[in-house]
Amino acid sequence: MTGKGSVKLLTEDGRRLDGRALNEMRRLRIEAGVLKNADGSAYVEWGRNKILVAVYGPRETHPRHEALPDRMLLRCRYSMLPFSVKEERKSPTPTRREVEISKVIREALEPAIFLEDYPRTSVDVYIEVIEADGSTRVASITAAAVALADAGIPMMDLVAGVSIGKIEGKLALDINGLEDQYGEGDMPIAMMPRLGEVTLLQADGRFTREEIVQALSMAREAIQRIYEEQRRALKDRYSGVGLEYGSAGEG
Ligand code: CDP
Repeated sequence: MTGKGSVKLLTEDGRRLDGRALNEMRRLRIEAGVLKNADGSAYVEWGRNKILVAVYGPRETHPRHEALPDRMLLRCRYSMLPFSVKEERKSPTPTRREVEISKVIREALEPAIFLEDYPRTSVDVYIEVIEADGSTRVASITAAAVALADAGIPMMDLVAGVSIGKIEGKLALDINGLEDQYGEGDMPIAMMPRLGEVTLLQADGRFTREEIVQALSMAREAIQRIYEEQRRALKDRYSGVGLEYGSAGEG
């Protein structure tokens, strides 16, 4: 396998290999309420990422001993379908990476939920990555927040996320799989958009103090736009304009 930095990720005129400017996001489309049998659901297409989220609950906790006396138990399972990635068929058993991502997704969502309102119950969030092309954890968080709202779970805010990468020494908004693989750094960030609070901040690679500050500000601005798309998806769901009805929607 080729090492990091061996692929040129920026063209002569400063464009990325998919034609985007450094501060440009991939196309994002969210649909809420796409599954009939789940209490809440969402589907996101974000660039070449395709992710489906199903939410069940609040319901009685099984096994019972896992129930928490003073709050709801949130369980998240991030899972990549065997055909979701290019190189090889991914094993269907959860990998260490999936276990870790499931945990950070749960921790990114929890601050937005009124967990204390539903003691002893549980809410299960199943995230299926159908196709992956970089930044899937933040795309999953973004879709999961919509699915939780669609399930009617009381929340103080939504949660939306985006990944800032570093390619050829420059910060790049919403990195794709290739940029993640060959770039110099990746910083997935999630926030409660209305409250402006960060609920996920990870970084791999080298970033200066100034770059971290700039990355947070790039993310904050993008998250406001992502939030608009989340709200549009939920609004369309409740105005009866959704996939289920076969309409294109009016926003
Ligand atoms: O997806 P995210 O950026 O949150 O997590 P990552 O572990 O940094 O993975 C980056 C990307 O690598 C994924 O989005 C996939 O496109 C790709 N990947 C893959 O091709 N095969 C895997 N088994 C895992 C990840």
